[in-house]
Amino acid sequence: MLFLKFVLLHSFVAAQHPKLVDVFTHPFDLASVSLSDSRWIGNQNRAISYIKFIDIERLLYNFRANHRLSTKGATPNGGWDAPDFPFRTHMQGHFLTAWAHCYASLGDTTCRDRATYFVAELAKCQANNAAAGFGAGYLSGFPESEFAAVEARTLKNGNVPYYAIHKTMAGLLDVWHILGDTKARDVLLAFAGWVDTRTSKLSYNQMQSMLGTEFGGMNDILTEIHQQTGDKRWLTVAQRFDHAAVFDPLAANRDQLNGLHANTQVPKWIGAAREYQSTGNTRYRDIARNAWRMTVQAHSYAIGANSQAEHFRPPNATSQYLAKDTAEGCNTYNMLKLTRELWRMDPNTTQYFDFYERALINHMLGWQNPSDKHGHITYFTSLNPGGRRGVGPAWGGGTWSTDYNSFWCCQGTGLETNTKLMDSIYFHDDDTLFVNLFIPSVLRWKERNVTVQQTTSFPVQDTISLVVQTQQESSWELRVRIPAWTSGAAVEVKINGEKVAAGNVTPGTYFSVTRNWKSGDEVELQLPMKLGLVPANDKPEIAAVTYGPVVLSGNYGNSGLSSAPTLSLGSLRRVNPSSLEFTGTASGKDVKLGPFFDAHGFNYNVYWAVNGKLP
Ligand SMILES: *[C@@H]1O[C@H](CO)[C@@H](O)[C@H](O)[C@H]1NC(C)=O
Ligand SMILES: *[C@@H]1O[C@H](CO)[C@@H](O)[C@H](O)[C@H]1NC(C)=O
Ligand SMILES: *[C@@H]1O[C@H](CO)[C@@H](O)[C@H](O)[C@H]1NC(C)=O
Repeated sequence: MLFLKFVLLHSFVAAQHPKLVDVFTHPFDLASVSLSDSRWIGNQNRAISYIKFIDIERLLYNFRANHRLSTKGATPNGGWDAPDFPFRTHMQGHFLTAWAHCYASLGDTTCRDRATYFVAELAKCQANNAAAGFGAGYLSGFPESEFAAVEARTLKNGNVPYYAIHKTMAGLLDVWHILGDTKARDVLLAFAGWVDTRTSKLSYNQMQSMLGTEFGGMNDILTEIHQQTGDKRWLTVAQRFDHAAVFDPLAANRDQLNGLHANTQVPKWIGAAREYQSTGNTRYRDIARNAWRMTVQAHSYAIGANSQAEHFRPPNATSQYLAKDTAEGCNTYNMLKLTRELWRMDPNTTQYFDFYERALINHMLGWQNPSDKHGHITYFTSLNPGGRRGVGPAWGGGTWSTDYNSFWCCQGTGLETNTKLMDSIYFHDDDTLFVNLFIPSVLRWKERNVTVQQTTSFPVQDTISLVVQTQQESSWELRVRIPAWTSGAAVEVKINGEKVAAGNVTPGTYFSVTRNWKSGDEVELQLPMKLGLVPANDKPEIAAVTYGPVVLSGNYGNSGLSSAPTLSLGSLRRVNPSSLEFTGTASGKDVKLGPFFDAHGFNYNVYWAVNGKLP
């Protein structure tokens, strides 16, 4: 009897997604939200044109060669996917994810077919493992011996083999989860089984020693597989990737990030957040929250980015690290994923989406080249005086990424970012709709037969309109983030033209209204913006200038700058109420300022020596 009960319970649990601890809100799937015309959709269109252009046979070259299948006459790629590059085939998982995003958000069958064809070809590679001399389930563009070497700590070529396969696994998960492709599930679970077999043979100490080599988000992806399948096996494998040398100081809230390779760490923290959701062990939550707070407060620039030459520097030292190789793109992509998970566990605070908005607008939006039809990206975003996007000590020759000769990590995370720009605008629980970001879009909330149209030219203008359409009146709660940056007194919410009492609308909180919603009901927000400063955290006389959430930068054309110009704050004027153009005086000369996300094709300045007071 007892046995039977156990079996039934077990099969029930295995068939269901396990209940997650402290996950209070849910994202909408990408099919439920569409972007409307705006600066944002241009980024999406360019990324999609690239993922539909790329030659799939070339992307398969290294997988097929490694698994002893014909490469079908395809030309090998260059850059980080060249046949002799140590962690080749890290990029393909990003394409899988981006194709899945594209089909989900646009119903684009070319993207769907590319994803499913690619997975079917990967399945053939995996099926040939015995002939290739690899263990069952293995799948990569480099031989399995790289894993033996990373375990034995004898790897000499700079390879990061777990980093690369994490990307493949994450792409397979998305094709399974988003497109419902069961072949992707089968390939993924076989691959995860290979990871289990390989790591189950290692002692705790061997495993911890191996984790000294960058391994992406292995704890994250394996926990996600557990969350998708309900199978506890994957959580056990995930926890083998808990990196004690990084987790222990974070759990104790000690900032020991200085000198660590930044993008190696952030995926581990996302994994910690998810491991908390799956285990309820508060140590994981503390690790993720502490890491987020330290990074945002003590290691981030005004644009929400972190790192210099890919590394964390001492806490509170921003002014000393305003260099050409600041702000690696991947780090912010990963910080946004972390931010989103932490907010889902703590949805009453706006601090998470205040940060998300800052990093998304000021780093991610301008990371892509708006004049390139394939939307290539820059690895670093320079913050030195006179910096310029797409120039500087980037990898692979020092400019924008290219169609076939770059395949940097940031090119991959850039494709993901620009194909999921709508994924964090709205969230929900059963009875509540959250509006976290101000991006023109349409939400279809299927469970409630409700459509919400968000119309705004934010951040150029400060007004946002949300119009509800519904098949039948129903009662639910709308919660809208009132950002901490907006000025208290003038912030305003109107419902069907009637002003809500000022006491109910407080910057840095969620505005909440529960009512019986009817078609045509409109909520209008006014979030007044003013000029502000984000001082370097070690030197208040060095600061970036903001307008609302937007970091402004100076346009220096083709002139070089040897040091931060001295900006007379009192001289700043908005030129035109319908754009974010400003003028000011810096080091005795007139300078034009505009949104940093649009600082393309000229030398710019972000951090100034500031003088006087803002008008
Ligand atoms: C960095 O500065 C912040 C704000 O002043 C402070 O709370 C934090 O403790 C500092 N961090 C370190 C490690 O000094
Ligand atoms: C958020 O605040 C509301 C009250 O405004 C409360 O009912 C709810 O439990 C809080 N949620 C969490 C996750 O703390
Ligand atoms: C949504 O609309 C359908 C068809 O009009 C109706 O059957 C269903 O009950 C509605 N759902 C809700 C939550 O109102």
